[in-house]
Amino acid sequence: MGHLGIIGGSGFAALPGVETVHRQWVDTAYGVPSAELLTLRYAGRQFYFLPRHGAGHSIPPHAINYRANVQALADLGVTDVIALGAVGGIAADCAPTRLCVPDQLIDYTWGRLGTFHDGADGDVVHVDFTAPLAPMLRGRLLAAAAGLGMDVRAGGTYGVTQGPRLETAAEIRRLERDGCDLVGMTALPEAALARERGLHYALLAFVVNWAAGKADGEVTMAEIEANLARCADAVRPLLLAVVAGS
Ligand code: HPA
Repeated sequence: MGHLGIIGGSGFAALPGVETVHRQWVDTAYGVPSAELLTLRYAGRQFYFLPRHGAGHSIPPHAINYRANVQALADLGVTDVIALGAVGGIAADCAPTRLCVPDQLIDYTWGRLGTFHDGADGDVVHVDFTAPLAPMLRGRLLAAAAGLGMDVRAGGTYGVTQGPRLETAAEIRRLERDGCDLVGMTALPEAALARERGLHYALLAFVVNWAAGKADGEVTMAEIEANLARCADAVRPLLLAVVAGS
C-alpha cells in the first residue's frame, strides 16, 4: 500500500478523534497550500490531511491554490489521495446525504491554474485522463463501504463548475443533458494535477442539496449546512475504515 493523503472538503477542516502527530507548513515551488499539512495516526497507520478550503474554511473554490496543495502532498511522499467533496445532486438517485464514488469528471471551470506543465518548465505534456479517478482507490473506498454495510453509489459523473455561486436551473439542465449526476466546484483541476504528478486520486462525494431546479424553491445554506453535518457523520467512519485497511 502507498502513502495516503486525504484532502478535506467543506465540513472537513479536521478529523476529530484522530491523533495529530505533526503539523507543518509545506512551502512548494507553486506557493503554500491551503493550510498546514497534518500528519494523523489511526489504527497504527499514519496519513496526511489537508483541508482544501483552509483551516477556517476561508478559501473559495476558484481561489484555491490547487497546484500547491497537490505538490505539497507529492513532496511529502503521498501516493494515494482521497479527496472529499460536498456536491449537489442531479441524478434522481443522488438525493441529499447520498455518498458517491464517481468515476468520471466534466470540466466547466475557467481561469484556474490547471497544470504543472504551463510551458515554464520547457515541457509540453499531455497526460492520459480517460479514467480520471483511480479504479484501485475507488475500489478501496467501495470495499470499505461494503464492509460497513453502507450504501454508497458506485460511479457517476461529477460536473465541476466555477462557483462560488451556485448554478442556474438552466445550467443544471445542461449539465444533466451532458450526463452529469453530481455537481461540485473543486474536483478539477485537483484530479488533473494529481494525475500529472503520478498520484492515484479518488473522490468521495457527498450530496448536500438537490442541484438548482431539482427541488422546489431555492437552494439554501441552511439546508446545505444541515446535510453537511449528516454526511460528515457517515463519511468519517468510512474514511477511518480505509485508513485502517491501508
Ligand atoms: N453546485 C455546485 N457545487 C456544490 C453544490 C451545488 O449545488 N452543492 C455543494 N457543492
